[in-house]
Amino acid sequence: MRANLVLLPGDGIGPEIIDQAERVLVAVAEKFGHQFELERHLIGGIAIDETGDPLPQPTIDACRASAAVLLGAVGGPKWDDPNAKTRPEAGLLKIRKELGLFANLRPIQTYPELVDASPLRREIVEGTDILFVRELTGGIYFGPSGKGEVDGHESAYATMLYTVPEIERVVRLAAEAARGRRGKLCSVDKANVLEPSRLWRRVADRVVREEFPDLDYSVVLVDAMAMHLISRPRDFDVIVTSNLFGDILTDEASMLPGSLGMLPSASVGASGPGLFEPIHGSAPDIAGRGIANPLATILASAMMLKHSLQLHDEAAAIEAAVRKVLADGARTADIARGGASISTTAMGDRVLQALAS
Ligand code: IPM
Ligand code: MN
Repeated sequence: MRANLVLLPGDGIGPEIIDQAERVLVAVAEKFGHQFELERHLIGGIAIDETGDPLPQPTIDACRASAAVLLGAVGGPKWDDPNAKTRPEAGLLKIRKELGLFANLRPIQTYPELVDASPLRREIVEGTDILFVRELTGGIYFGPSGKGEVDGHESAYATMLYTVPEIERVVRLAAEAARGRRGKLCSVDKANVLEPSRLWRRVADRVVREEFPDLDYSVVLVDAMAMHLISRPRDFDVIVTSNLFGDILTDEASMLPGSLGMLPSASVGASGPGLFEPIHGSAPDIAGRGIANPLATILASAMMLKHSLQLHDEAAAIEAAVRKVLADGARTADIARGGASISTTAMGDRVLQALAS
């Protein structure tokens, strides 16, 4: 197979972890006889520095023309001025919208070797395997917002707004995913307070009743879910929710397996290229020190091969290589629990060795 893939390293540790994922992609292409054209483009703070725009047009064009996009991370203190004209994060929000990536898949899986790195007790987290499906191009992130004056006071507002088709498509995608897993779907909202959540609940209930009656379906309020996630995470299979609730709950859930450094994510639309990235951010505090964990990005590249290129064996080979290096005891600092740790590049080396064996 020939495929054009776009790499967007971004900021902070982004370039370091993308380097390792690129090595893995090159090795997989060689091993399985594919040809991947890998092109790098600008996004985020570095794009602001170089072009004044967190998502320059050449990046958008290249992503549109690609089979899939692999992103490192965006943002950092350098671009944090609240009065700045634009921010790195705006580039990420715009690429999601431009590519129509309405669903963000965030699998939360525990690795037996890393369970003790979790802040929660082993007996609570062991065996946790959740797929979050977060709505990504609607809700309060993209609703009407602005600044003004209320009763003589400076004010600001953002609006949580959903249309029926926006809810239907993401619930359908989550329901399909549940069918391929343990058959359980949980929809999370705040229907006891928020009007858009009442619409969400009504639409989700109908879609599941009419089209997915075979699923074990439940609804949970978002505040209660925040609690259930850390008290009984094993009870959940697929969780579907709106943009803001998904943002918050997935950060919470990302602590279950012990390190953010292990978790990949996929953003997908109805058609066209998907965007794959680690869940973690640009980690400016450790950027440039060569100690970041590249495994989340390497696993994101596996998700990319699976979802966008239908290369299931290749993706499985990467996932197996990651499990092997963990089983062999290779640890970057974030998962070393004070024990010996290896560098970002050394972790890349270990994955390449495991792939070759
Ligand atoms: C995420 C991030 C982004 C979000 C930011 C960086 C715009 O937190 O992907 O979860 O809020 O969606
Ligand atoms: Mn987030």
